[in-house]
Amino acid sequence: MKLWKRLMAAATALTLTFGLSGCSAFDSITNGKRIIRIAHAQSEEHPEHIGMLEFKKIIEDRLGDKYEVEIFPNELLGSAQKAIELTQTGAIDFVIAGTANVETFAKAYEIFSMPYLFTSQDAYHEVMNDVDYMQQLYNSTDESGFRVLTWFDAGTRSFYSTKPIRTPEDLKGQKIRVQQSPASVNMVKAFGAAASPMSFGEVYTAIQQGVINGAENNELALTNNKHGEVAKYYSYNQHQMVPDVLIGNTKFLESLSDEEYAIFMEAAQKATEVEMNEWVKAVEKAKDIAINEQGVEFIEVDIQAFKDKVVGVQKEMLENNPDIVDMYEHIQKVNKKYEGKE
Ligand code: GCU
Repeated sequence: MKLWKRLMAAATALTLTFGLSGCSAFDSITNGKRIIRIAHAQSEEHPEHIGMLEFKKIIEDRLGDKYEVEIFPNELLGSAQKAIELTQTGAIDFVIAGTANVETFAKAYEIFSMPYLFTSQDAYHEVMNDVDYMQQLYNSTDESGFRVLTWFDAGTRSFYSTKPIRTPEDLKGQKIRVQQSPASVNMVKAFGAAASPMSFGEVYTAIQQGVINGAENNELALTNNKHGEVAKYYSYNQHQMVPDVLIGNTKFLESLSDEEYAIFMEAAQKATEVEMNEWVKAVEKAKDIAINEQGVEFIEVDIQAFKDKVVGVQKEMLENNPDIVDMYEHIQKVNKKYEGKE
């Protein structure tokens, strides 16, 4: 972003965070156009940002006489939790956040924090790309003021640290950052580490200053968020596939005509397609940079040993949260289809 754009974004962020929360973005009309504000936590090179540029293009090509889309990357409008609140109140219109951040609003989203829920990437993609099936879940937060439009692939999460993790025992005594989700806290504890929930933007400094030893995420966290500069060991234990979701303010979405709504949904679907294509390339690139420029060691581990540690977590989640049972069973069926294929 150019400097003046950054300054404008920062000014908007301040106004939104301190001035407008609670008010509606309906007031934000510039040159006769309604400004649509979208927040996310990633850099401008990230597949999600590229996906949202497609979203912006489609909306402005088709509805440009009425709407202008502004994208705020890099947690400019605050952490995921904060940005969801801004979307809820209508201070902004859309936010991309990991489903872990939605758990506090709708318990059904906890399903995605279950360790080793999906047994293959194919099963994960099939479940998430089943737009009709996902609809019920996506609309379940309408009462909280927001609705999910689509999902984005955020890969597979594994541990990375300043100390190598070759077996689950290596996690003992380590302090690991997790997303602000109770299910993820329980998971990391079951692995034998101490869990330290914090927002994504705080992780780099926390590792650098030794407040935590490491974190868990996809490979892009090493490069796009520079965590590979401070944590040199990435272990492929692959405990979760946690999707990101595009969340929109319900009132805004319901204010659209049927035709406009269809265009917004189409733009969201296209953004997902673009993002998923970019994702594959981005992971390859991230690995290359992490190994060759950051000196990160990628460690292959015995995944079963990690799975064994969290069987109890899966059971406990199913017992304590009736909202996830249907989806769990649905996912098991899809998992079976792909067993032995990967
Ligand atoms: C990934 C994911 C984000 C999430 C982040 C985190 O980057 O795409 O949505 O917020 O992990 O661990 O907080």
